[in-house]
Amino acid sequence: MNDSSMIEVKGLTKHYDNDAVKALNGVSFLIKKGEIVSLMGPSGSGKSTLLNLLSTIDVPTKGEMWIDGKRSTLYKPYDRFRAGYIGFVFQFHNLLSHLTLLENIEIPMYSLEPKKSERRKRAHFLIEKVGLLDRKNAFPNRISGGEKQLAAIARALANNPKIIIADEPTGNVDTQAGAMIIDYLINHCRTNDLTMIIATHNIEIAKKTDRIIHLENGMLKI
Ligand SMILES: Nc1ncnc2c1ncn2[C@@H]1O[C@H](COP(=O)(O)OP(=O)(O)O)[C@@H](O)[C@H]1O
Ligand SMILES: [Mg+2]
Repeated sequence: MNDSSMIEVKGLTKHYDNDAVKALNGVSFLIKKGEIVSLMGPSGSGKSTLLNLLSTIDVPTKGEMWIDGKRSTLYKPYDRFRAGYIGFVFQFHNLLSHLTLLENIEIPMYSLEPKKSERRKRAHFLIEKVGLLDRKNAFPNRISGGEKQLAAIARALANNPKIIIADEPTGNVDTQAGAMIIDYLINHCRTNDLTMIIATHNIEIAKKTDRIIHLENGMLKI
């Protein structure tokens, strides 16, 4: 296997409901370390399914995945692997409404950083980086959609993940906020040599990435 490969999948397949739903049908590709790739395709083409498999939130029906040079199955237990390796940004921010922004950002750190003072320090660092330091004690329902997504990004970066997986991260914010979010993510990846795969319907966003993977009916469209 190529040394600089960060994500490699072969024949990746996911069927739901006893094969009634064939969401992903034998997908193979390689993403190099440091590459920023967008994933495009119509609704229902399998983008979220693919991202959930790559992040080990879900398991494939068939096929193989290598992450950072290792068979994905060697990373079990997956929850710990996920916490340390993968920063997942969802279409909906998924911030917990009863916690402040700072507390939300600390959540992923609980499984890897036992010291409260360290968690707090890093959460401050991250919230400052996304420009929300003055809102650190705000609850999610008191800030704008774009700000929520920036806070969600800070939370995704909490454990210094090597891979960022973003599933339509700008699907719910206006164009201007969307551009800011994408620029922040891309800049963060370039600066830290992170690998990112980002599902989007927006060609302007896709153009900012290194290349595009097209999905249709659960297959790669060449
Ligand atoms: N948990 C699930 N159970 C059954 N079918 C699902 C599930 N998740 C997704 N699907 C189906 O799999 C297909 C691909 O969905 P998805 O990966 O969400 O596509 P996209 O993100 O490109 O819109 C769709 O037909 C969808 O209805
Ligand atoms: Mg989706």
